[in-house]
Order: sequence, then C-alpha cells, then structure tokens
Amino acid sequence: MKFIKEARPSSDGGDLAVDLVSDLHADYWDRRYHGVASIVIGPQLHAPAIRPSSGPRRPRILVVAGDTTDSMPASLRYLDEQFRAEYDWILLVDGNHEHMESRPRLFPHAAVEPLVRAWNERRDGARLVYLPLQTFRIGGVAFVGSCLWWDYASGRRSPSHHDDAYSRAVRVRAREDWDDLRRRLETLNTDPTVTTVVVVSHTVPHAEVLNWSSQDSGTHVNAAASAGILRERWRFPKVKFWLSGHSHDTHDQVMGGVRLVANPRGRPLDHNRVWYARRSVLIRE
Ligand SMILES: [Fe+2]
Ligand SMILES: [Fe+2]
Repeated sequence: MKFIKEARPSSDGGDLAVDLVSDLHADYWDRRYHGVASIVIGPQLHAPAIRPSSGPRRPRILVVAGDTTDSMPASLRYLDEQFRAEYDWILLVDGNHEHMESRPRLFPHAAVEPLVRAWNERRDGARLVYLPLQTFRIGGVAFVGSCLWWDYASGRRSPSHHDDAYSRAVRVRAREDWDDLRRRLETLNTDPTVTTVVVVSHTVPHAEVLNWSSQDSGTHVNAAASAGILRERWRFPKVKFWLSGHSHDTHDQVMGGVRLVANPRGRPLDHNRVWYARRSVLIRE
C-alpha cells in the first residue's frame, strides 16, 4: 500500500476539519472546462465561484468525491485553477464521469499517476493525492477511497437489463475497486497507529441512503456501491466516516455507526445549485 503522510501532526487537539465537494460537473457550469465528451446543454452557465465552508476554522484539506468534469485532465485542470492555492492537500477519487472519454472502456487507475505527478511538479499550494493509488495519513486518521462504481443491483430494474460493454466493464471495476479497498482496510485494521479511517467513494455505500423521489432519481439505478461496507462494518471498526457523491442529493446521517456525508453540486438541470458551498466535516479521532 502506498502511503502519503502529512509531516505535521494532526491539528487542533485531535480534531481535523476537511472540506468536502463532489459532482461539481464544472463543464456543465462553465464552458472553459468543456471536455470532448461533455453534453452541451444550451448556453453554458457561468455560475458564481464555489463558496468556502462556514466552519469555525479553515480546513487545509479538500476532499473531492468524483464527477468534477467529464474528463480526468479537465478535472485536474479545474482543481488546479480553483483550489490549488487554498489548501495543503487535495484528496481525489474518480467519478464515473471522469471515464466518459474512454467509454465503453474505463481507463486504468495507473493512467492517472503521470497526470498527478505532473500536477505535483509545481511546489506551490496544494499537493494532489489520488486515493485509488495512495492512502493518505494525518495523525491517527487515514483516508482511503476510489470510485467503487456499482453492480446495478441497487436499482429497480433487473441487472440483466445492463449487459452492454460499458456495463460489463463497470461490474469488473466495481469488484476490483472493492477488493482493493477491502485489502487496504484490513491493513489499516492491524495498524495500531491508525485510530480513524475515512472512506471516500464516488458512489454511496448503501442504497438506503438514496432518496428515490428526488429530482435525481434517474441516477439511482446505479448510485450505490456494489459491496456496501456497511454490511461488513463489523470487520472494519476504525471506519467512522464515509464521504461520497454520485447521487446529487445531499445527506448527512449515521448508519451502522458510520457518519455518511455527501455534498454534491450536481448539474443545472437537476438541483440547479447556482449557489453552492464547500461543506466542512469535522473528523474526530
Ligand atoms: Fe454526478
Ligand atoms: Fe457520478
């Protein structure tokens, strides 16, 4: 397991505040981030800048839970231009939209490594951590994550409706992502210096979190990760937070002893969150 470790100790007496964003879908709000696979919806908006979070302290870490744009290079450029100067660390997972340009295939995680390395060649501002390839540690807190995808089983149509090349690739990646995450969680379980694990995924960890009557219900056919950790909670007692996206509904609730938080922006055509703010999450060790 590759580790990136923050040199400074955990701040503020054991509590750590992080900002959370997801599903920024920046290419739907600002044509400058339009990728080749982006769907054009009328004149692109120029939404106001994303507001800072309103917590008592300014977080040094930004968690980005996927779907920043329809292209990984465009997503990294967006994070560079919008957030590099404001944070020490940006922790990123891929969303399904970062794979739009390679459909029906999904690009391998390893293909992101040189992009992240190039991003980090600049020495000013935030360092970028791509969580599918690296686990991030600060004090006793570890951040692990990946997209996690889905297996179509949480939707209301039979999984057999999804048998095209893309759907098959998604199922394979869902299993790979989950197997990798589980291995990393098992390692963290046995590490006495880790007290708290924060999982970051693009999809939500359990279908029960979904609001089936919302404006975003079309996404819910595939919104929940295939192997929800909440079913295996007893195996990973250090997991106390799960930050996710994909569903464009927000949530903040405790399930199975894990605090589940989502702070998606979404698109103009679903919740139309023209005014959107980062959400500060206090991670207690
Ligand atoms: Fe999204
Ligand atoms: Fe998504």
